[in-house]
Amino acid sequence: MILVTGATGYTGAFLIPRLAAWNESLRCLVRPTSDPAALSPWPVELCTGDLDDPASLIPAMQGVRLVFHLAHIRYTPALLAAAPPGVERLVLVSSQRRYSRVPSPSVDEVIAGEQAAFASDQPWTLLRPSMIYGPGEDRNLSRLAGYLHRRPWIPVCGPGHGLQQPLHVEDLVEALMAAARSPAALHRAYDLAGPEPLAYNALIDAVAAAIGVRPRKVHLPLPLVLAGLRVARMVGLGAGLETEQFRRLQEDKSCCLDAARADLGFSPRSLAAGLAQIHGGPRP
Ligand SMILES: NC(=O)c1ccc[n+]([C@@H]2O[C@H](COP(=O)([O-])OP(=O)(O)OC[C@H]3O[C@@H](n4cnc5c(N)ncnc54)[C@H](OP(=O)(O)O)[C@@H]3O)[C@@H](O)[C@H]2O)c1
Repeated sequence: MILVTGATGYTGAFLIPRLAAWNESLRCLVRPTSDPAALSPWPVELCTGDLDDPASLIPAMQGVRLVFHLAHIRYTPALLAAAPPGVERLVLVSSQRRYSRVPSPSVDEVIAGEQAAFASDQPWTLLRPSMIYGPGEDRNLSRLAGYLHRRPWIPVCGPGHGLQQPLHVEDLVEALMAAARSPAALHRAYDLAGPEPLAYNALIDAVAAAIGVRPRKVHLPLPLVLAGLRVARMVGLGAGLETEQFRRLQEDKSCCLDAARADLGFSPRSLAAGLAQIHGGPRP
């Protein structure tokens, strides 16, 4: 039996069809509020529970051999505590956010979730994806593409030199499945990203080329953006925008893939190839 948490999320939509092809029963932990419609084509058992309610994980974990934990890494302690004795591997998805030097509760909870795994004897493997993109609403490059479709200009906070290394969701799925099978991956953590880092400016250019637009970048100094955000908050606007988001955008988010290449056979596609698959290739 395989258990997947976070199956109703973006990555889950790509992992579940692949796991359904394995000749093994598949169970998905879904919240009472989850919309499991996207899971209906697949032979999955739905188990209602909530990672915030550790008792609800006990039935979900019954008879489980493999766990793919796609929901947030902060739930690691509850997940590990509920894992049955015979579990062979728990593949935990963390985030490159753990490397951010911008002080933030969201970074702290990723680090705490990882530390819970590192302190555990359970057979875990931990993956740290960078920004995930792919077909449909990835909420990262799909939003950027949507914005660029609507407007001929784009505001860029700061100089736009911060390095990004987006990861195609199907490459993440390959790594998830390899992590479940690789003996070398036991009790190891892997950084996962696309094959090469590129500056945020170049990322905008790549997405723009893929959808056939040529936007003008309007660079706004970070202090100006943060001051604007403070003013917006004072008048009740700017909800959902955090100063840490803009600070993190200035950070370099490049990472080394050597360990994942060696132990997981990780071989991510180039951004150009990923964007061409989604948008049909750069336009003249
Ligand atoms: N997206 C990125 O760019 C990115 C980058 C780095 C790391 N990550 C990490 O990669 C993983 C997958 O990301 P994603 O973007 O595919 O996820 P996502 O689309 O945000 O989906 C999150 C999933 O977690 C489930 N979930 C949330 N809280 C839960 C709870 N209390 N109990 C049970 N299930 C719960 C959600 O269920 P509902 O359907 O009920 O909401 C949903 O299925 C996440 O751990 C994320 O932190 C993502």
